Amino acid sequence: MEEGKGRVCVTGATGFVASSIIKTLLEDGYSVNATVRFHPENKKDLDFLSNLPAASQKLQIFNADLSSPESFSAAIEGCVGDFHVATPVDLEVREPKEVVTKRSIDGAMGILRASLNSNTVKRLALTEKAVLEFGEENGLDVVTVVLPCVVGPFICPKLPHSVALTLAFLFGDNYQHGLLFRTPLVHVDDVTNAYIFLLEHPNLKGRYNVSSSVVTIEEIRQLLSVKYPEYQIPNIELLKEVEGYKLPNLSSKKLIDAEFEFKYGIKEMFDDAIECCKEKCCL
Ligand SMILES: NC(=O)c1ccc[n+]([C@@H]2O[C@H](COP(=O)([O-])OP(=O)(O)OC[C@H]3O[C@@H](n4cnc5c(N)ncnc54)[C@H](OP(=O)(O)O)[C@@H]3O)[C@@H](O)[C@H]2O)c1
Repeated sequence: MEEGKGRVCVTGATGFVASSIIKTLLEDGYSVNATVRFHPENKKDLDFLSNLPAASQKLQIFNADLSSPESFSAAIEGCVGDFHVATPVDLEVREPKEVVTKRSIDGAMGILRASLNSNTVKRLALTEKAVLEFGEENGLDVVTVVLPCVVGPFICPKLPHSVALTLAFLFGDNYQHGLLFRTPLVHVDDVTNAYIFLLEHPNLKGRYNVSSSVVTIEEIRQLLSVKYPEYQIPNIELLKEVEGYKLPNLSSKKLIDAEFEFKYGIKEMFDDAIECCKEKCCL
């Protein structure tokens, strides 16, 4: 019998969201089976995970790849919960979209089957929409998590894409401004708390949006130019020329009605992300 609160599998452990979830699970007394993709040509340094407090007793790292859905079985065995957070990201568009989508769905279905076969997994949370039905048909307790742009501090070695995007003004990246026109956001610590809340409330079913705020490009400009005057932030007249996407708001009413509390506002999202980038010398 596992000591503490039980063991949870988290896939995609080298990523922004998954590594933050692992840190919080360990702090909260859970044990974690983390999966990472095996890179034969470029061995990844996983010290940022294995050096987390309590990791030496409570963290086990497994190799698994969405291209081989059965590779997740060993990591899922014996877990009470499974957070499937790994996702194929192909920003350079090296593969056709259909190939990436198929890998993502096949991987998620493999993880569902392994969770079902384990006989221990009570709760499965993932960001893949195509799987709720499988869970219902097979008596597996599945929730899907829908995220907006996630911002805040990060422990993973790579600057997360969503942090780079929201801090585009500070990175001098003018190409991203169109994506910041009107953006739903959430602090990464609210995301990790929401995953654990969903794990600990098995009565909650279905799909949950985890989004706390919506910000416009003018509001970001105002916030950053007041607090961080040392950066060259485009003036408001230039921003009026930006044509962009107004991303739809993701209402988190269902989660809030279940008595989940978001703790962080926009100011903390930006301040925490900036402080972390400075510490890691990305800014
Ligand atoms: N961050 C956001 O703003 C945001 C917004 C909306 C939705 N989401 C969702 O949240 C989840 C996590 O996002 P994130 O920002 O943490 O992403 P991320 O930092 O890019 O992490 C992605 C993770 O998936 C792993 N991965 C990629 N291809 C894989 C494969 N074939 N097999 C196994 N693992 C693979 C990566 O491993 P490698 O290190 O080996 O590449 C990495 O650990 C995703 O499902 C994403 O769609 C995030």
